[in-house]
Amino acid sequence: MSYGLLKGKKGIIFGALDEHSIAWKTAKKCHEEGGEFILSNAPVALRMGTLNQLAEETGSEIIGADATSMEDLSNLFDRALEKFGKLDFVLHSIGMSINVRKGRHYTDLDYGYLEKGWDISSVSFHKVMKTAWDKDAMNEWGSIVALTYIAAQRVFPDYSDMADNKAYLESITRNFGYFWGKEKNVRVNTISQSPTPTTAGQGVKGFSGFLRFADEMSPLGNATADECASYVVTMFSDLTRKVTMQNLFHDGGYSTTGISQEVADKFL
Ligand SMILES: NC(=O)c1ccc[n+]([C@@H]2O[C@H](COP(=O)([O-])OP(=O)(O)OC[C@H]3O[C@@H](n4cnc5c(N)ncnc54)[C@H](O)[C@@H]3O)[C@@H](O)[C@H]2O)c1
Repeated sequence: MSYGLLKGKKGIIFGALDEHSIAWKTAKKCHEEGGEFILSNAPVALRMGTLNQLAEETGSEIIGADATSMEDLSNLFDRALEKFGKLDFVLHSIGMSINVRKGRHYTDLDYGYLEKGWDISSVSFHKVMKTAWDKDAMNEWGSIVALTYIAAQRVFPDYSDMADNKAYLESITRNFGYFWGKEKNVRVNTISQSPTPTTAGQGVKGFSGFLRFADEMSPLGNATADECASYVVTMFSDLTRKVTMQNLFHDGGYSTTGISQEVADKFL
């Protein structure tokens, strides 16, 4: 069902890779709700060609940008401004740890990989916001959202350096969010999503057991990518104008549950 929540709103959605991506689902929901947007991803991801299907379905243009490159981001925002004028929403749905990919243990990180992963997963959010800031690209009461995970607050051993990257991402959200609020009336938040079977999610060792554990720990069960997309839409809508600088848990209650009966019963 559509509520027309994003009618007349324009934005950029970063990070749709395939139909499982949280950004892919979000793009579809934004389209259903009347939003218009540019789809962006790293040039290497665009070469897969899958994004064309989403672009067709949602009537969107694709503009490639490596989110760590200020030059690419500048070009992307210039083209977005040309096409739409100022923007109302931006989704940062980008993450990658080379240490996780290569199975490097947290006690044995490769620091070259760490720096690259940190740039992609955390600093890119600052770079996206700085580009938008310098070009005065956001409308008043616009909304900027990035996706994060509870490993920023609690230890998940196999999440490796992504845990630190998410903590940094959430810190950027608060700090840049202050200035966006104060000077531009724009809100900035992270959504901390349940484990979700996507390319990035499944890259974490032991992911399927972990997914089941989280599901049994959460009173409402794991939040799906579709449900996350709906939540992002509310954060882009005018119904959440005064929510800013927050880390918003979208996890079926996992983050505040000590232990569930189902999990406790396994130890009887
Ligand atoms: N899947 C989960 O369990 C889960 C849980 C909580 C939060 N998240 C977060 O959600 C976000 C989206 O991930 P997803 O699960 O949809 O997986 P995904 O693999 O579909 O999306 C990750 C995206 O990051 C893009 N990317 C990587 N390097 C880039 C670069 N240099 N420039 C631009 N884009 C780049 C990839 O191309 C891909 O589209 C990530 O921030 C992830 O950490 C995922």
